[in-house]
Amino acid sequence: MATSTETVFTYAAPSLKMGPGASAEIGHDLLAYGVRRVLVVTDPGVAATGHPARIAEQVAAATGAEVVVFDRARVEPTDASMIEAVEFGRSEGPFDAIVAVGGGSSIDTAKAVNLLVTNPGDLMDYVNAPVGKAQAPQHPLLPLVAVPTTTGTGAESTTICVLDVLALEVKTGISHARLRPTMAVVDPDLTLTQPAMVTASSGMDILSHALESYTARWYADQPAKRPEQRVPYCGSNPISDAWSEKAMSLLASSFRAAVNAARSGEDPSEARTVREQMAMAATFAGLGFGNAGVHVPHACAYPIAGRVKGYRPEDYVDHDADGAPMVPHGMAVSLTAPEAFRLTFDAAPTRHLAAARLLDPHGAVSAPDGPDRLPAVLASIMRDVGIPNGLAAVGFGEGDVDALVEGAWAQQRLLATAPRDMTQEDLAGVLRASMEHW
Ligand SMILES: NC(=O)c1ccc[n+]([C@@H]2O[C@H](COP(=O)([O-])OP(=O)(O)OC[C@H]3O[C@@H](n4cnc5c(N)ncnc54)[C@H](O)[C@@H]3O)[C@@H](O)[C@H]2O)c1
Ligand SMILES: [Fe+2]
Repeated sequence: MATSTETVFTYAAPSLKMGPGASAEIGHDLLAYGVRRVLVVTDPGVAATGHPARIAEQVAAATGAEVVVFDRARVEPTDASMIEAVEFGRSEGPFDAIVAVGGGSSIDTAKAVNLLVTNPGDLMDYVNAPVGKAQAPQHPLLPLVAVPTTTGTGAESTTICVLDVLALEVKTGISHARLRPTMAVVDPDLTLTQPAMVTASSGMDILSHALESYTARWYADQPAKRPEQRVPYCGSNPISDAWSEKAMSLLASSFRAAVNAARSGEDPSEARTVREQMAMAATFAGLGFGNAGVHVPHACAYPIAGRVKGYRPEDYVDHDADGAPMVPHGMAVSLTAPEAFRLTFDAAPTRHLAAARLLDPHGAVSAPDGPDRLPAVLASIMRDVGIPNGLAAVGFGEGDVDALVEGAWAQQRLLATAPRDMTQEDLAGVLRASMEHW
């Protein structure tokens, strides 16, 4: 008997306030919740920009609430760093609302704190199986206002929280609709100080979100689900397509310029227009992939980051007092993207070529309209923004492929979103071919 296929797709998003100056209105927006105690979550690098302190003062002045700042979110959070933040939230609480100011690292840390100051148990009770127990939160969470300072993750609008489980050398996450921020405040002026490599790496994250959700298996090509089986990621669909396409067009006109401006040392305010376009691209891609899902490059990125060798990226030097090596998330995602999209081309040629046209609207990259076109466009962007030339450049070799395949294979939730059925051999092929791109 034929399995019936899906006819329904879903879409959800936080309320959104966007544009230069938007972060000066957070106090007003929190008045609606009658807040008396507010927790601001940030990391040391973002705290040094002064934005979290300014937002904390503004919230206190507008609401009369007591505002407590936690500024020790770890860049690329771990189970240990999230537990520290949760303990802070539990011991310093109760709070009526949380404001996250920072990149994906601070926003995800705030999501974990929000989950565990409102629900019983430990972090691992909620982490995705098989690493954790994948329990669903029983109680509603506090209002969470997410204020991104990077142009990348889209974490301000997604239901996920990513963390590195140190003992297992594995990146995984918590995913539940209740984790989605109540409100996203996207103020591009906060991103003007984003360093060049952070702009490059988090920009590759935007690009991969848009591309992976655009090429994700179409919602109606999946088996039908019962209402209780629906998950936030439902495959590409007419609404997520619109956001992904717009994000790619914005990247085409602003990504290289934003990184060049950060690298040039010119007055950051000169780059206001391209920073604003990048901020829109990040949020729009988040609104797309946060509903459609991501697939092969993100599945491979988890073990690439989790099994890091000795690589230490520029501009992330202050990320951690213990000086641990890292492959930043967006960089990790991009390192296999050209080869992943070469593999998936046959499953959806029209979409791969349409994406290549959106990213390279003037045909500056010369490659024929076939499986090589999108990989060539991606490699050209990676080279121009200063991403390392493949897995070998961040320390991996042929001998690491089996372990990387094992780590990527564990991300079945993501692999199921790929436009074609994936095997372990497919993943090994993508990883082997990604040692060097140009
Ligand atoms: N929840 C999601 O939906 C989602 C999606 C993708 C990635 N992620 C996760 O997000 C994390 C990566 O987040 P990210 O790429 O936004 O970077 P980040 O939050 O890790 O920040 C990177 C570095 O930039 C600094 N920084 C941030 N904004 C700055 C600014 N305006 N000026 C100066 N310095 C600034 C930070 O202090 C840090 O050193 C990873 O852990 C990744 O797995 C989450
Ligand atoms: Fe990502």
